[in-house]
Parts: sequence; C-alpha cells; structure tokens
Amino acid sequence: MAYECITVRPLAGALGAEVGGVALARAHQDNRVWGEIHQAFLAHQVIVFREQELSLDDLLAVGRRFGEPTDYPFVKGIEGYPQIFEILKEPEERQNFGGNWHSDTTYLPKPPLATLLHALETPSAGGDTLFANQYLAYESLSAGMRRLLDGLTGIYSGSLKRYGGRARMHGNSDTMAHQNLTGADGYEAAHPAVRTHPETDRKALYVSRTHTLRFQDMSEAESQPLIEFLQRHATRPEFTCRVGWRPGTLTVWDNRCVQHFAINDYHGQRRRMRRLTVGPQVPA
Ligand code: SIN
Repeated sequence: MAYECITVRPLAGALGAEVGGVALARAHQDNRVWGEIHQAFLAHQVIVFREQELSLDDLLAVGRRFGEPTDYPFVKGIEGYPQIFEILKEPEERQNFGGNWHSDTTYLPKPPLATLLHALETPSAGGDTLFANQYLAYESLSAGMRRLLDGLTGIYSGSLKRYGGRARMHGNSDTMAHQNLTGADGYEAAHPAVRTHPETDRKALYVSRTHTLRFQDMSEAESQPLIEFLQRHATRPEFTCRVGWRPGTLTVWDNRCVQHFAINDYHGQRRRMRRLTVGPQVPA
C-alpha cells in the first residue's frame, strides 16, 4: 500500500517495519496519519517508532488508538496509570522479563490484541527483542497438520514453570518490589490453537511452549511433543525479525499473530521500559 503521511521500512522478509515521519505524542490525534499507522500495523504486525518522547498520558493515548487499555493481572501499574508498568533489569540482576517465546497473557479469557513497549533506558548493546510471524508459521505447515490443528483447542496457563520465574516489574510503589509472578499460577483459559485474525481474516498459529499446557481432551504427556514441534517450527529464523532498542523507541506488536522473546544478553547493564497492553479480545 502507498503511504502519504508516514514512511514504512520493512525490517525483515517475514514481519516488522520501522515507521517514520511521525511524532506520536501529536499524531495520535490525526485520523489520517492514524489510518496509515493502523494499515502498517496490520501489514507488518510489529511496528517500530524511533525517538518518541511520550509522557504516561501520551502512551495511554497512543495505546487507546489500538484498543482499550487492560490491566496486567498480577501487577498494579504506576500510580495513576494502573495499566502501565515498568519492566526493569538492574545491572546486578540475572533474570529478565519475557525471556521465552510467547504471545502476551494467552492464559486470560480475553488476551490483549496489542502490546506497546517504550524504551526509557537501554544497554549499550544487547537487550533486543525477537518477533516471529505466526501467520507464516501456520501457512507453512502441511495440509494434514493444519487440518489437525484447526480442530484443536489449547489450554493456556500462567504457570511459572514455563515462564522462567522471577522478573522485576515496577508499578505502584506498594506492589513494586520484586514480583515473582506467583499470582500467575492460577490463570488458565481455553482458546483455539489456530485463531483467525478479526481484521485481516488470516489464520495464525496460537501455541507456545511458554503458555500452552496441553490440548483439550488430551493429556500433557500426549500434547507436549506436538507443542514442542510447533514451538520450534513457529520461530524458524525465516519467520522472525529482531528489534534493537534505543531510548525513545516505541514498538507495538500484534499478539494475535506474533510471538516475541526478550533476549537476556546484557548482564551488568540497566534496561528500563514502560509496557502497556490494549484491546482485550476473545480469540476465535
Ligand atoms: C515482554 O515479554 O512483554 C517483554 C519484552 C521485552 O522486554 O523486550
């Protein structure tokens, strides 16, 4: 598609694009610019904006253009901004947040359609995020495997075992400290293993090793080999792109058709991001 208000530069063959020519703090009020940003979001699934100065109010306003802001289930957000929290890794910490392939909070009945991540402080090198296109993952499977998966329902769990454990998230000062995510253990939801994107009408694989516990009417032992196969397949290098962060980078990704992975390769340095999820939606 031709863009008149923004520039769009693909990051890789599979997905991802850097969007230029916009200052989001103002652009979110302009419907014409916004129409193009939304087109780029649907076409590339992951859109990256550089050098964005965004207050908490700006971040919320930009997020609202994608969907209604949602709470993260077990972290209270920043004072006055309950849906926004900080992801922080200090130089002395070893564990990062999101260091496993996943789509966000698929264990909720209505997972968010998009996540916005705004970089405040970034390491001198490292701390990139990988993304994988789940349309391509589904479309490249054999017809037989697609038929099998089309009929399956996944059981998605917030259990820590798979998520990698402790991570530091800052929100409301009462609750910030170290959140060990134990609250996530109780969350479970059933969703189709293959979902149809409500805006593009394309089918995408919706299974991850991190959150898919098993398939409905099957045991964990029966489900695991298939989940393992699908996870490896879904993140083949040719389905991915990689986003490097600088202070001011805002990335928005479409959880309905993308998995992501935060790379933990910057021990000894600080990384601080603001995170907001929007658009709760029942996968279908
Ligand atoms: C996440 O999984 O939401 C965090 C991604 C990141 O910090 O790069």
